Amino acid sequence: MTVRKMFDRIAPRYDLLNRIITFGLDIKWRKKTVKFIHTHPGSRVLDVACGTGDLCDSLRKAGANPIGMDYSRGMLGSFNTKAPLINGDALKIPIRDSSIDGITCGFALRNFLDINPFLKEAARILKPGMHLAILEVDEPKNRFIKAGHSFYFKKIVPFIGGVFSDKTAYSYLPRSVVYLPEEKKIVEMIEQSGFSNVKKFKLTGGIAQLLIAEKQKD
Ligand SMILES: C[S@@+](CC[C@H](N)C(=O)[O-])C[C@H]1O[C@@H](n2cnc3c(N)ncnc32)[C@H](O)[C@@H]1O
Repeated sequence: MTVRKMFDRIAPRYDLLNRIITFGLDIKWRKKTVKFIHTHPGSRVLDVACGTGDLCDSLRKAGANPIGMDYSRGMLGSFNTKAPLINGDALKIPIRDSSIDGITCGFALRNFLDINPFLKEAARILKPGMHLAILEVDEPKNRFIKAGHSFYFKKIVPFIGGVFSDKTAYSYLPRSVVYLPEEKKIVEMIEQSGFSNVKKFKLTGGIAQLLIAEKQKD
């Protein structure tokens, strides 16, 4: 099954599972993500791989005008907030150069076939000086948190997924963290794509991460 089909299938219960699996922490992480976009009324912010729209909702509450984009029609069909939607690919974004005031991307980077084309597209469509905010899961470095986290994601999450949604999908999602480059590498990739002031923030003991970058001014 392709990743896109997997998301089509889990879409109807995606929000419910997010709240259960993260104990609602994802809501806090999203609010923090949106703060780094520095929205002002009317800012046009693209939420790449928007899924069911939780980040678009946070952006709207922060006063921005979000646009959601995702390649899964199932996820867009379960979209839960008011925002214009685009059915499109993060690796080939159908938006013109230097026209966007901010970009968010939540829990999707590890699903992209290749990260570099996404970063280049993000730099292409952002106005100079504007921000990209990538929210992702992470592997904690602390030995004890790491052991508990690994057990939770490898055993408990697939079990909960099986009860409420799809066990195969919720076995893949935690495993897919291995596709994420190490901190030094991802920071380097973002810089080489046309960004500066790249920062990584560890969230909740390092179980999630927030990467912030500013598009280089000409
Ligand atoms: C784990 S979900 C995250 C959804 C949402 N951003 C959130 O914060 O809850 C990953 C999303 O990435 C989308 N996705 C994966 N690869 C994509 C691509 N190349 N282009 C557009 N969307 C993609 C999937 O369809 C899915 O909706």
